[in-house]
Amino acid sequence: MNKEQVINALKNVTYPGFTKDIVSFGFVKDVVVDGENVFLTVDITSSAQEVKEQLDKEIKTQLELLGAKRVEVNILQPKMPREMSNSTSGKNIAPQVKNFVMVSSGKGGVGKSTTSVNLAIALAMQGKKVGLLDADIYGPNIPRMMGLSDQRPEIQGNKVLPLKAYGVEVMSMGSLMEPGQSLIWRGAMIMKAIEQFLRDILWSELDVLVIDMPPGTGDAQLTLAQSVPVTAGITVTTPQEVSLDDSRRSLDMFRKLHIPTAGVIENMSGFICPSCETESDIFGMGTAAPVALEYDTDLIGRIPIEPAIRIGGDTGMPIVYHKPSSETAKRFHEAASKLWVFIDKVNEEGGVSNQEIQPTTPPGVSACSTQSAPAPNNESSSGCGCH
Ligand SMILES: Nc1ncnc2c1ncn2[C@@H]1O[C@H](COP(=O)(O)OP(=O)(O)O)[C@@H](O)[C@H]1O
Ligand SMILES: [Mg+2]
Repeated sequence: MNKEQVINALKNVTYPGFTKDIVSFGFVKDVVVDGENVFLTVDITSSAQEVKEQLDKEIKTQLELLGAKRVEVNILQPKMPREMSNSTSGKNIAPQVKNFVMVSSGKGGVGKSTTSVNLAIALAMQGKKVGLLDADIYGPNIPRMMGLSDQRPEIQGNKVLPLKAYGVEVMSMGSLMEPGQSLIWRGAMIMKAIEQFLRDILWSELDVLVIDMPPGTGDAQLTLAQSVPVTAGITVTTPQEVSLDDSRRSLDMFRKLHIPTAGVIENMSGFICPSCETESDIFGMGTAAPVALEYDTDLIGRIPIEPAIRIGGDTGMPIVYHKPSSETAKRFHEAASKLWVFIDKVNEEGGVSNQEIQPTTPPGVSACSTQSAPAPNNESSSGCGCH
């Protein structure tokens, strides 16, 4: 009996719940054949005891059929995700993540992704375990900004491993699609995608997951808030009135979704000249603070227009990491520190719950129903219930 025969025999062992075998999945690691004795290590993605027991049994059966007298199988499993979240009640489909930060804006192009990237890296540089989820399914820019455009994630079973850059775990629809490909999304598909990003990505035990949202206040925001308890919301705006109007909508959404608001970031606020480093007002500045006040929150950062920010975004070399002594990097670090103080405060005061925003209608009844669950065999009360 040789190693090749053993591996061939193991191809008959399918991974529980799948049609693929453990060799094709790449789970079989070390195989040592010593006469009629076989020692092997199998590294699987499930933490379930039943899966381990079933595999152990099937592997032994297959190798005994081949003529092995003694088979020792060492099955390695990931630890069960430990419940770390700050939620006290409600729903959390990614319990190994302690805090979730929703970065939102009223409109696109205001610097939401730039802010998400630099805040995430600043938090990681400050010693936190950080993930960055690009939930902007229509315009996934995070891979480029994090220098990950050419990388594709590794699949483990039916889960996906996040990519890693600048000390931050990263996942984006852009990393799962071909470059330049567009997707046309219906509301229900967006909701599913958001759920999968939280449930089917193998995020580590993180202190915080920073989530770059699509612009506006839609299905993605609602689904995220219903799926996990969001610890803090940040609104990114530019100084012009048209942007501030949209930011009010974003701040109002945090209230409606019971998301504690960490504050507002005024981006493209003034201009720092690359040669003389003086700051001038070319686009308006200082207009977001009164809006923050209207919503009982603070301005946690004012980021100037600086060519190095755009270049950093385009080349995948974020300014916080690559120009740490720049004024902009300092301001992102300050904003990240303020965000962390806010997160600590929310948790000290008992954490967050998304209980009150869970759908309340029974299965099969739409939200516009004025009745409780339809009575069986009563056709007139089935369906929406509005008419
Ligand atoms: N403060 C800034 N100074 C210079 N360029 C910026 C600044 N903020 C963002 N940009 C650039 O503006 C563009 C839009 O920013 P982005 O973060 O993609 O916005 P959003 O995610 O809100 O659509 C990007 O090319 C980015 O590099
Ligand atoms: Mg963006």
